[in-house]
Amino acid sequence: MQLSELLVWLSFSLLLAAWAEPVKAKRKGPAQRKIPGRSFTMGGDELSGAPGTKQVSLEAYSIDETPVTNAQFREFVKETKYRTDAEKYGWSFVLNSSLSKEVLAESEQHIQDAPQWVAVLNAWWRHPEGRDSSLKDRWKDYPAVHMSWNDATAFCKWAGKRLPTEAEWENAARGKKKESLYPWEGKDFLGPDGRWMMNIWQGLFPFENLAEDGYHGISPVKAFPANSYGVFSTVGNVWEWTSDPFPGRPDEEEKWILKGGSFLDSATGDFNHKATVVTRMGNTADSGSYNTGFRCASGKGGGGRKRPPDQKMLEKLAEEGGIEAVQEYLKSTGSNAQVFTPSELQKKRDKLKESMEEL
Ligand SMILES: *[C@@H]1O[C@H](CO)[C@@H](O)[C@H](O)[C@H]1NC(C)=O
Repeated sequence: MQLSELLVWLSFSLLLAAWAEPVKAKRKGPAQRKIPGRSFTMGGDELSGAPGTKQVSLEAYSIDETPVTNAQFREFVKETKYRTDAEKYGWSFVLNSSLSKEVLAESEQHIQDAPQWVAVLNAWWRHPEGRDSSLKDRWKDYPAVHMSWNDATAFCKWAGKRLPTEAEWENAARGKKKESLYPWEGKDFLGPDGRWMMNIWQGLFPFENLAEDGYHGISPVKAFPANSYGVFSTVGNVWEWTSDPFPGRPDEEEKWILKGGSFLDSATGDFNHKATVVTRMGNTADSGSYNTGFRCASGKGGGGRKRPPDQKMLEKLAEEGGIEAVQEYLKSTGSNAQVFTPSELQKKRDKLKESMEEL
């Protein structure tokens, strides 16, 4: 090769590298896995909290290979000075068996029907078990916890990503064998070689913790093998937030869907939730506790939820319940669409015209 040719080639490849770099560098947090588009059946397991099924078609998207770790969350906080909801409240719920004797003794508040959930002062992501806990040896491998939906949403935005929809989360967790309720092939809650492949609770909760899976509480995000998509730690370990609203009564505060269960859920649903790729619950945007974390997604996606609303149906809603009913409906679908009365629309048009004329 001639020198001049080499120079041209070099500068060409440098140019290419420079062009490719910013695209990559824009995204922060965990490495991502590409999930190909496909159709699959969502839900279908009563004990996991999703008895109904739904046919969903997804376009290709990417999802973080693990939940966001403490080190990754620290990077976000360093750059943005973000304060989590748990910090603002000054306390958070921790499972009693994960606390030191001292902190357990000084924490008197707990959930009435679930006394194992103790309200611990100054429990937040940096001090997951309260004042005498630290993240020493847990920065790189452990998921950030006490995460609220607000915290998760803010992180994903900073990372150049977004929260996954429920469908995207479940689809990624299922892996290539989309029929299985587990991230691995087959119907058994144990992995193919008969070993535990997820961090849930063995024994009788909360009195007995056999830790047959190797972990009493939270585990590292790569403690168990990835599924066939290369995605880790979906079912069990920590609940993960999604961008979908949790269906509730209209008079309730809005809730968001969490997926996958956590380390204190069960294989069979005998106590707490049955842990599968289907497992879901809802909580308010400012709620987080010792077993809630998240991961982010990217790509156009939308998870089969951002279909344009059916015009006929909207008209019927407007006729029966007015603009409020339409707004309420759009909000429940996660749509960003806004609703205007004809006079509001006219005002918008006039304003637009004015600004056009100014130009
Ligand atoms: C946690 O709370 C449960 C329920 O009250 C109780 O049975 C259990 O002994 C407690 N465990 C610890 C370590 O305090």
